[in-house]
Amino acid sequence: MKNLTFSKKEGNIGWLEWNQANSPVNLLSFSFMEELEEIIKNTDPSLKALVFISKKQNHFCAGADINDIQKIKSKKELKNILDKVHDLFDRFEKLDLFKIVAIEGSCLGGGLEWALCFDWRLAGDSPSTRLALPETRLGLIPGFGGCLRLPRLTGLKNSLSLIPSGKTLSSRQALQINLVDERVPSLVLEKRALELAQNIVTKREQPLKKTFKNQKAFSFFIEKTFKHLIGFYAKNQILKKTKGFYPAPLKALELIQKTYGKKQDKKDFNKEKSAFCELHESSVSQNLIRIFQMTKQAQKIKTNSQIKKPIERIGILGAGVMGRSIAWLLLDKAFSVRLVDTKEESLVNTLKWVKQMGEKQLAKKQINSYEFKRKINRLSVSPHLWGFSNMDLVIEALPENKQLKENVIREVSKKLSPHCLFASNTSSLSIKELSQHSSSPENFFGLHFFNPAHKMPLLEIILTDQQKDLFLAPLSHFVKKLGKVPVFAKDSPGFIVNRLLAVYLTEALLLYEEGFDIERLDDCYSKQFGFPMGPFQLMDKIGLDICTSFIHQLKSSGLNFKVPSWTPELTQTLGLGEKSGQGFYNYKGTPPRQNEKLKQLKRKSPLDISDEVIIQRGIYRMINEAFLLLKEEKVQSEEDIDLALVMGLGFPPFLGGPMKYARDIGLSHIKNSLEKLSHQYGERFKTHFSA
Ligand code: COA
Repeated sequence: MKNLTFSKKEGNIGWLEWNQANSPVNLLSFSFMEELEEIIKNTDPSLKALVFISKKQNHFCAGADINDIQKIKSKKELKNILDKVHDLFDRFEKLDLFKIVAIEGSCLGGGLEWALCFDWRLAGDSPSTRLALPETRLGLIPGFGGCLRLPRLTGLKNSLSLIPSGKTLSSRQALQINLVDERVPSLVLEKRALELAQNIVTKREQPLKKTFKNQKAFSFFIEKTFKHLIGFYAKNQILKKTKGFYPAPLKALELIQKTYGKKQDKKDFNKEKSAFCELHESSVSQNLIRIFQMTKQAQKIKTNSQIKKPIERIGILGAGVMGRSIAWLLLDKAFSVRLVDTKEESLVNTLKWVKQMGEKQLAKKQINSYEFKRKINRLSVSPHLWGFSNMDLVIEALPENKQLKENVIREVSKKLSPHCLFASNTSSLSIKELSQHSSSPENFFGLHFFNPAHKMPLLEIILTDQQKDLFLAPLSHFVKKLGKVPVFAKDSPGFIVNRLLAVYLTEALLLYEEGFDIERLDDCYSKQFGFPMGPFQLMDKIGLDICTSFIHQLKSSGLNFKVPSWTPELTQTLGLGEKSGQGFYNYKGTPPRQNEKLKQLKRKSPLDISDEVIIQRGIYRMINEAFLLLKEEKVQSEEDIDLALVMGLGFPPFLGGPMKYARDIGLSHIKNSLEKLSHQYGERFKTHFSA
């Protein structure tokens, strides 16, 4: 068998091990189902208990095979598969023996739904033991009975906090809400599973199957009585988060609310199957699954060479906002970091900030005090370049000042060993030009993090012609360890994200100059189109100093933007944005209001244009510029643009990225609209693609 190995232990105990061949993770694949069918069919009637355990290190199960899910083309085919899985799980659940599942490592989606069919869930205490039903993140709901089985164990409120959000729990949290029955040190998990089975067989231990109803009868009664009120509150929370763009969390909520407190019934399982089939057909789910697959693909950086020395010690130049957030990201991923800045005050502030970040993790019990100390101790700061000859990678995160960067690169590169990689985090300067100032240009490249680096998943990588394949091996290992999504861009102003961002933001500034209110404009792009925030809220978040500087840099590098005349003075007029308390909005009260000083910016009276045209101006202009990037061969594929904008700019994932969105609504429609806009607003809307 490719997945399951059955053996019999003394005392009529069945022992079932899961280790999917040729795969780093276990998946609920078709072949797993076939093997399980065989095992259920041939269950030895003398068995009294069964233990199910994964033999993969750090993984119990990663859920249904997403590639299988995507290949399913018809509703009928999907319905058949769901029927089979439900039947299988149902028959397994009814087997007359005590079933124990031992969970160690990630237990996700269908894997957790499978674990819910057991009588007893034992979980290891290691940090890698994480449990979740993340299907809504793929635009789906749990489809193997999870929407019904989980609430029976954890209650209504806990299920509504878990399933619609796809939230991940540690084994400690899972124990608290009754999702697992027992938590033991990971080292003794297997031993305890066997001991429990033996005790059950010899009747020394008779654990009660814990349901929410039999454990917390009063809470169950309250939840059942007030399930509509609880559902109403949960719906508001979901709508606040999803703005109504994602149907899956609402479907999950509706189903859980309808079936909660009832006896497990075939009709209710059928409702779950129908909802799953409906969502599976939706463009939202297809787009989210595509993004998941593109992400996994991007993380496999192709290289023919073997890694000689992995990146372990990293130097960072510049203790500004970016430098410190890169430092924190690296510490979090167990790298040793040396942060250098000539300003001692910045170094002291960074140390304080890093300590606070660690304390937050400590307070949330994400780390213990030993891990906290180890993490903080991996950071050293200095105004000098001491120890730089031992670095494996140096990241320059200085302010966007060409002269300053060139001088520092010249000085630092002389101190580095021949194997050390040297990266610039510039967002607008030419990597090739900067590399000329390094004594080893073949080791110099661009590594563009997004702010805050410890939260934003995207990493733009910019290589020059001098880089050899050898270079990719340590880089690939490094990116994988960081857990970031890498996208390769060619050396050109703003690379991918900032160039498209500049186009979008400058169009918003022009719309403001034409007389439209920032609140209306922000609502158009966020509440109507689906960005997490509107362009003015985004500029305030990034910082107006940073926005005006990169817009200026990109404009002076010859890109075709038009900006209002007052753009360069925005910081003097309004402030720096959220970090200084005011920018386009004033952040002194909640909710933030328009900054009074906006009146000082010269503007016209607005012409009557619809929200649709406002959205087209920003979005179609961005799509058009993306086609220009492709035409200029500055990016490899439409998929790379989609991934970069979803991960780096928050382009609505349910739309699949700008290029997928363009293809979905039709290039000829976009071309026609751009032509109309170009008649009215000029050359910047001239199309760069053929429909
Ligand atoms: N379906 C198909 N393939 C999957 C998968 C899934 N549900 N989950 C993981 N994989 C594959 C990855 O694509 C990768 O393939 P590769 O070896 O060809 O590159 C491999 O398994 C290892 O995954 P990776 O993400 O590189 O390992 P990791 O240790 O960093 O993370 C998980 C493992 C399981 C935590 C992560 O892959 C994950 O979150 N998977 C999605 C889980 C999910 O959403 N399940 C619900 C499905 S409905």
